[in-house]
Amino acid sequence: MTNDGVHGGGSGEQTLVILGAAGDLAGRLLLPGLGALVAAGGAPKLTLVGAGMDDWDDERWRKRVVEAFGAHRGKDASGGKGERAVADVVGGTRYVRADVTRADELRRVLDGVGGEVVVFFALPPAITGKACEALLDVELPEGTRLVLEKPFGSGVRSAAALNRVLTRLVPEERIHRVDHFLGKSTVLNIVGLRFANRIFEPLLSAEHVASVDVVFDEELALEGRAGYYDKAGALADMIQSHLLQILALLAMEAPLSMDPREFRDAVAEVLRATRVWGGDPKASSLRARYADGAQHCAYTKEPGVDPERGTETLAELVLAVDTWRWAGVPFRLRSGKAVGGGRQEAIITFKEPPRIPGGLHGPHQPDRLRIGFGPDRVALDFNINGPGDPFVIDPVTLAADFGPGELPPYGEVLHGVLHDDPTLSVRGDVAEECWRIVEPVTAAWRAGEVPLLEYPAGSAGPEESLLS
Ligand code: BG6
Repeated sequence: MTNDGVHGGGSGEQTLVILGAAGDLAGRLLLPGLGALVAAGGAPKLTLVGAGMDDWDDERWRKRVVEAFGAHRGKDASGGKGERAVADVVGGTRYVRADVTRADELRRVLDGVGGEVVVFFALPPAITGKACEALLDVELPEGTRLVLEKPFGSGVRSAAALNRVLTRLVPEERIHRVDHFLGKSTVLNIVGLRFANRIFEPLLSAEHVASVDVVFDEELALEGRAGYYDKAGALADMIQSHLLQILALLAMEAPLSMDPREFRDAVAEVLRATRVWGGDPKASSLRARYADGAQHCAYTKEPGVDPERGTETLAELVLAVDTWRWAGVPFRLRSGKAVGGGRQEAIITFKEPPRIPGGLHGPHQPDRLRIGFGPDRVALDFNINGPGDPFVIDPVTLAADFGPGELPPYGEVLHGVLHDDPTLSVRGDVAEECWRIVEPVTAAWRAGEVPLLEYPAGSAGPEESLLS
């Protein structure tokens, strides 16, 4: 949760304009997240405006908002305030049909909007770029905030170009580049786990840690998203964005505070030190694509997929965090679709003890700190003299489960946006840095230096792995 809490009260009146209102992102994630935030009484007084190419009227749009907000009915913990706020937002919302890549149409969308304006680009990346360019010819109301989704550009150059356009429109603190993983309570809990305790942090360095893995496999396959995913692939969709943010939280130095400047400086610093392991993208990356399996057909048979593009649905990448603290420790990131079991956790594996006293024997395993992102839990694996023979070592696990966060990740992120708090937004330099980290890998893949492996959909992934 951000600094001021869900019930931290509202700033003045605001208008949230969603460009791409009829699209998948708005319906699946953005509106439900907004509904949860409004129902929890955590949003300021809000007018919601939807805009897009679809030939919708206010009624059609309102139906979509009601459906998306529906799940949060009855979850009002604010004495009725949240329920009234939901009814107000639904009652006052409207839809404007517009081509958002044209300045004159954007002017029409923004005509007469009141209060502080927040423009959310819920659009494919290429359209977002065009809409931003078009906004250069529109006079934006004072204090306007811009909210963008990943992928932010398609490489260092395009991200830098987009940053230049954005900072001509509004100052950097008013640009919110959304990474909804930063809104997941367990991801943010990495900061609390590391810096609000004495017991873990002194061990988190090259002196004691053998490796750090961040794994986010999903059982889900493509789910009809070929239009976007086939051009992105697992590396850009998950690793370049979400998993690098997790790496940053695991490896960063303690920020002075959770103030946006301090926190984002600490994130930027550690990512600037991060690079492909050994400077060798060929040896330090792996890519694969799912083939026919029990639950899903092959990726290449999904509607809208161009098999010739060679898009990977699973990627692995080994990185070095080249700082005094982490020199020599491999950080191994992996994410795949249609992977059985869907393991989602960060695993810190500790080095072996210098020696185990003679006479103690048994199945000794390395100590591990595991942070689970689904289910949300922290577990510590270590060895003790187990029951029975007191000279035999047994592995045990101490685990704590977390309840889900008060808000879904998109609600958490929107809370920051609507309260003008960019702590959980990706800063411009960090967005470029994340592309800089993965670009040697995309270049090696493009040059055909790394083979595209296959794995049956629903299996544990390809037989080969950089994590084993
Ligand atoms: C999105 C990716 O950003 O994150 C998806 O585009 C992925 O491909 C999703 O499935 C995972 O996030 P969550 O919150 O649904 O686990």
